[in-house]
Amino acid sequence: MKVLETEFAIGFIRMATDGWNQGWHERNGGNLSYRIKKEEIDQVNEELNPGKWQAIGTEVKDLSGEYFLVTGSGKYFRNLEINPEDSMGIVEIDETGTNYRICWGLVNGGRPTSELPTHLMNHQVKKQTKGDDMRVIYHCHPANVIALTFVLPLKDQVFTRELWEMATECPVVFPDGIGVVPWMVPGGREIGEKTSELMKKYDVAIWAHHGMFVAGENFDMAFGLMHTVEKSAEILVKVMSMSKEKLQTIKPDEFRDLAREFKVTLPEKFLYEK
Ligand code: 13P
Ligand code: ZN
Repeated sequence: MKVLETEFAIGFIRMATDGWNQGWHERNGGNLSYRIKKEEIDQVNEELNPGKWQAIGTEVKDLSGEYFLVTGSGKYFRNLEINPEDSMGIVEIDETGTNYRICWGLVNGGRPTSELPTHLMNHQVKKQTKGDDMRVIYHCHPANVIALTFVLPLKDQVFTRELWEMATECPVVFPDGIGVVPWMVPGGREIGEKTSELMKKYDVAIWAHHGMFVAGENFDMAFGLMHTVEKSAEILVKVMSMSKEKLQTIKPDEFRDLAREFKVTLPEKFLYEK
């Protein structure tokens, strides 16, 4: 079977196009990775053509032998659909968890995304904490979430609570909350460490003045999570633009009622009195 005929490649490209259409991927902004299942990589074995091993820039021992479909560095999400073999690639992780090699795609001398260390470290944390359930890590530059990082305190509690308040479905969609990474230089091990530390508790991490990372079971779940958080940020931006104070909002006890009804656990640390 050809890589481009697989369900995972088709889902990956569709998600990239959806993200582009949302306006979350100016120029080469954002990146996407998918941890390929064993039976899926076996399907495309004949098309794989491994290149040279190269350093990841971090260590992900628990991902040794795994294969990932990733977007390329400097590649534009709007081009994934029309030129997938140039814009994305399949990489294999070596047994030490410190090197990768390109096995398919990135045909014009491309490299995997510069955020590969963060993607892989997040995948490793999700594999450790959730087993085989979480396969998608997604990073984009959504304007409303980024705008909020200039005016809200860069605290998990504040971002989670303020965004929960903006739509009743939010605490149900991201009950564990949202982590916030202060401004850091992107593209390396350090920001990857900080982000993956947050991914032990959350499925969403905001990078101040930069963008957002989410983890999801599949493309629908990851995209839907990103969409929900960014929509709620858009509502908050509108509310803050209209008035300094909210006249009414969802109260801590109402969140507790919601949690009971929808059978989710909402950590009390987010339900503080203001
Ligand atoms: P890449 O083009 O290397 O994926 O970088 C885009 C980006 O959003 C960096 O944070
Ligand atoms: Zn980015």
